[in-house]
Amino acid sequence: MTTAVAVPRAGGSGGRTAVAARARQVTKAYGGGETRVVALDAVDVDIARGQFTAIMGPSGSGKSTLMHCLAGLDSLTSGRIWIGETEITKLKDKQLTRLRRDQVGFIFQAFNLLPTLNALENITLPMDIAGRKPDKRWLDTVVQTVGLGGRLKHRPSQLSGGQQQRVAVARALAAQPEIIFGDEPTGNLDSRAGAEVLGFLRRSVDELGQTIVMVTHDPVAASYADRVLYLADGRIVDDMADPTAELVFERMLQFSGDESRTPAEYFEARGRTS
Ligand SMILES: Nc1ncnc2c1ncn2[C@@H]1O[C@H](COP(=O)(O)OP(=O)(O)O)[C@@H](O)[C@H]1O
Ligand SMILES: [Mg+2]
Repeated sequence: MTTAVAVPRAGGSGGRTAVAARARQVTKAYGGGETRVVALDAVDVDIARGQFTAIMGPSGSGKSTLMHCLAGLDSLTSGRIWIGETEITKLKDKQLTRLRRDQVGFIFQAFNLLPTLNALENITLPMDIAGRKPDKRWLDTVVQTVGLGGRLKHRPSQLSGGQQQRVAVARALAAQPEIIFGDEPTGNLDSRAGAEVLGFLRRSVDELGQTIVMVTHDPVAASYADRVLYLADGRIVDDMADPTAELVFERMLQFSGDESRTPAEYFEARGRTS
């Protein structure tokens, strides 16, 4: 058992640092010479524990790269990254794999559930693989919060898209990771199922003290977060607290230079397509 499991999460930092992840002067370049692309350019960021952070920015601005680097899924060209107190940029491959397994949760756009397992088995699968016993009370809390109580014996094919993604979120939460990363976690859902999953992510932060970082291009999704970071050309160009969908949308327009639609037109169109 890791220490991360024993530390109570709700109600403060539990004696741990107030920062769940930290990046210092993080640069990531692909290729070399003429084809060199700087995906991240000397990024400094602190992700506060128990906060819901959204990462936004135009396509190609470095959102996925930043998330993958923070999660220890991608190596850096230069710079340093910590998850909790551990500097992951110093770890050997095996140590990094173990840290990712024990302290990092992922929610992808495709739910990545195993079709032959029921909802509960999917939720506990990562812990089963790691040979860890799920904390029964915590598991009950997570299942309650997700609102899947009556559906635990159902297979993914017997669940709606929103319910499947809630299973994926519960799977990430069940292991009590230091931090959960989501890359467009509601990207494949209609707006109602998306709202269901976002509401659940919000509650897991408020009620369970979880730390979440989510990449999204949707101002409505971003408005569920406590903070929105904007990336452009591999740099953080803005940092907004307590976002609303309208404020996020206006900021997006400023950065994209697209003045073709008003916020009202955008939200009306969004409502109609879903
Ligand atoms: N494996 C890769 N090889 C080469 N270039 C890459 C690779 N991954 C990403 N890039 C480039 O890095 C930049 C940032 O990409 P990415 O982080 O995926 O942006 P975003 O998620 O914001 O759309 C883009 O210019 C992209 O083309
Ligand atoms: Mg991306």
